[in-house]
This record gives sequence, structure tokens and C-alpha cells, in this order.
Amino acid sequence: MSEPTPITEQAAAEAVAQAIQAITAASNSAELRAARTSFAGESSPLARMNGSLRDVPNDQKATLGKLVGQARGQVNAALAAREAEVMAAEENARLASEAVDVTAVATRWRPGARHPINLLMERMSDIFIGMGWEIAEGPELENEWFNFDAMNFDEDHPARAMQDTFFVEPLGSHLVLRTHTSPVQIRSLLDRPLPVFVVAPGRVYRTDELDPTHTPVFHQIEGLAIDRGLTMAHLRGTLEHLARSMFGETAKIRLRPNYFPFTEPSAEMDVWQPNAKGGARWVEWGGCGMVNANVLRAAGIDPDEYQGFAFGMGIERTLQFRNEMNDMRDMVEGDIRFSQQFGMVV
Ligand code: DAH
Repeated sequence: MSEPTPITEQAAAEAVAQAIQAITAASNSAELRAARTSFAGESSPLARMNGSLRDVPNDQKATLGKLVGQARGQVNAALAAREAEVMAAEENARLASEAVDVTAVATRWRPGARHPINLLMERMSDIFIGMGWEIAEGPELENEWFNFDAMNFDEDHPARAMQDTFFVEPLGSHLVLRTHTSPVQIRSLLDRPLPVFVVAPGRVYRTDELDPTHTPVFHQIEGLAIDRGLTMAHLRGTLEHLARSMFGETAKIRLRPNYFPFTEPSAEMDVWQPNAKGGARWVEWGGCGMVNANVLRAAGIDPDEYQGFAFGMGIERTLQFRNEMNDMRDMVEGDIRFSQQFGMVV
């Protein structure tokens, strides 16, 4: 049991003053709860004075009762007023911390872009699919026999030399990074029943320095048609159709005599590009010819029974002159802004 607390005007005033000081100093609801317990709780000075009223003489009960009652009323009023302030401040802080800036610019996921080299390869392939041809594939790490021997390259043909071809170690493995898509000709003839009408788009490698017109890794599309009775007229018509599909109805081609080991006769193909930016012009586009009898024999085909034609062109070069790209390096650097300017159609 605690000692009865004397009730005096001074004690009551001091208790009120202390309470108000603590209540005013409370800056958050936890501090205010502590002040309420200390100054308005069961064991606070004013609660104890209130308890002592039981023991005061009857004639003083009314006066002292009023004194204690008013003091407690002041403390409770101060608590209520401060509570309203503290709660409002806390509510504002919470709202501020939860605020959402509805005008903020959202993080955007930029859509990717397809590379124009792939788009162009697909577009050219589709032109042949439209004529009933098939897509053929071969490995990029290719056997020297497919890349050179079967394609009728002499043992000492300069294209085999170290400066053009990436040979793969150990050198006795006879593996090379294919220098052209032409080995897919032999693979297709070995794999498929005759007649064969295929295009082979794909990646090829040569030991060139990267500069505005060369890249050591590039792409070609190869074409091969083998059937009974195919002639150079079929070759011409096929390439003319390709040229018109790619460069407009008034495009045409011309063939100039050339030499390739795997065709006889061989030709260089130029395309008349009617809507080139600087005006209509002839541009060198690729190689072609009638498939050399030795290539057919390498695939076990009798050249007296079956004949055909082949052609091949570079995709990077095509993109360069068709879409006015000055620098081939832009095509290999992988900056997505380069690809985005083509959209999804090339
Ligand atoms: N393979 C040749 C090259 O890379 C291109 C080529 C020329 C392919 C004539 C052919 C062709 O199929 O008939 O330069």
C-alpha cells in the first residue's frame, strides 16, 4: 500500500505542470502513451491524490474534490489535444510515404529487333519456297572434302591457301570453317532423291579483316537445281525472277563469263537495279553456272542423265547495295538501333 498523498493546491498545480510539459514534449504516439500512463494512469500523482480524497475530513471533501477533479480535467484535455495533433502528423507522414506519382514515366521494356541479315535471308528463301524449292542446311564446321575437293577445287587452288581459309586444329583433322555455302550442294545431292531444287542460306567464314566492305563472318545463299534437261535458260529465268522479286518488276540481270571450279560454264551475275538511290545501275551480285560434271560425279550422279545449275550470292553485300548501307561494320556490331530502323520487313 502506498502512503496517502497529501492534497494541496501547490501539489496539484505541480502535477498538472509536469504532466503538460511531458504531454507537449511527446512527439509521437508512443511517447504520448507513456505520458498518459505516467500522468493520467492509476499510479500517477493526480490519481493518487484522488484516492486520498477518501481520507480527508468531510468539510474539506468538496473543495479538495473540485481541486483534484479540475487538475485531472486539465491533464485529460491536454492529452486529447496533443493526441489529435500527433495522430494528424503521423497520418500525414504515412500518406506522404505512400504517395504515388501518377505522372511519373514508367520503365519501358523496349521490344527487340530482328537483324536485317536474317530478314533478308528469309525473304530470299521465301521467293524460292514460292517456286516449290526446299531449304537445305549444312554444318559451318565443314570437312575439307565437302568445302573444296567435292566442289572440284584443284589440290593447289589458291582459295585453299592459309590466307583465305580458317583451318581447324589439329591440321590433320581436315576440318575448316566453311568458306562458302557451296558444300551444301554436295550434301543435298547425297541426302536427297533427284530431282533436287534447294536453297541453302547460311553463315560462312574467311580470313578477311573487318572493314567497310569485308567481314570475316558473313552470309550467303546458295541455290542448286538438278534434274533432267535443265539448261542455262532455266538458270537465267530463275535469277531474273529473283531479281524482280527483290528489286521491282523492271529489274533484270546479265551474265558475264567467269570461272568457278564447280560450274562449267560459269558466269558472274549483275543485276539492273532500277530504283537505286543514285539512279538505275548495274551491280555485281553473285556467281552462277551449270553444275560441273565432276561435282555431279562426286555425288554419284551420272552427268549424262542429270544436269543442273547453281548460284550463290552474299547477303551482306546484297543488303549493302540494295538498302544503301555504306559500312558493313554496322551489320556486325550488334547495336540494336541499326536493326530497329528496318522494322520487321527488309
Ligand atoms: N561459292 C562462290 C563464292 O563463295 C559463289 C558461287 C559462285 C556459288 C557460283 C555458286 C556458283 O553456286 O555457281 O564465291
